[in-house]
Amino acid sequence: MKKNILIGVCAGISSYKTCELIRLLVKDGFSVKVIMTESATEFVTPLVFQTLSVNMVYLDMFVPAKEEGIKHIELTEWTDICVVAPLTANTLSKIANGICDNLLTTVICALPEAKKIIFAPAMNTNMWKNPIIQENVDKLQGLKRYIFLNPGRGFLACGDYGEGRMPEPEEIYSKIKASLK
Ligand SMILES: Cc1cc2nc3c(=O)[nH]c(=O)nc-3n(C[C@H](O)[C@H](O)[C@H](O)COP(=O)(O)O)c2cc1C
Repeated sequence: MKKNILIGVCAGISSYKTCELIRLLVKDGFSVKVIMTESATEFVTPLVFQTLSVNMVYLDMFVPAKEEGIKHIELTEWTDICVVAPLTANTLSKIANGICDNLLTTVICALPEAKKIIFAPAMNTNMWKNPIIQENVDKLQGLKRYIFLNPGRGFLACGDYGEGRMPEPEEIYSKIKASLK
């Protein structure tokens, strides 16, 4: 049976690449659900992810429990593997420090230990090289369940050249499939 993939989308320009990732997964028969941070909705609209994933997009932490249950717990039960693409410096740092101030960070914190989480960071080179961010990356990489796909080198949306590009959708897709074996 095909697995359930939870995709977290943070507020970066490269969230347009996440559309292609979702398309690849759905085409291959995976069930896909998307959680977006509030700031992520400034980039690609929830409607795009809703249409591509053929599922509602999750945004809010707080909904009437009667209507939808306790969403962050239901989502952790539904998920076989979680992928955050793009992972911003902000959300990376929150996760590394156990901060749970939105639905995405709360679900990640509440996911059972056995469920893997793949990170596809994307950010400006200076952000990626910032020692505080690197310290947070090291902290997460030290824990077995987190799988980091290192950002690629190239021209960034801000015009700089360097490390920080989100890994390509095909690379993330291959990592998901390999991690599910
Ligand atoms: C045009 C634009 C592009 C951005 N791209 C990125 C990015 O690629 N990576 C990143 O870490 N932050 C990026 N930011 C900053 C984040 O959007 C900002 O830190 C935001 O608070 C992150 O929110 P989130 O982690 O809750 O999604 C960008 C901001 C703007 C205005």
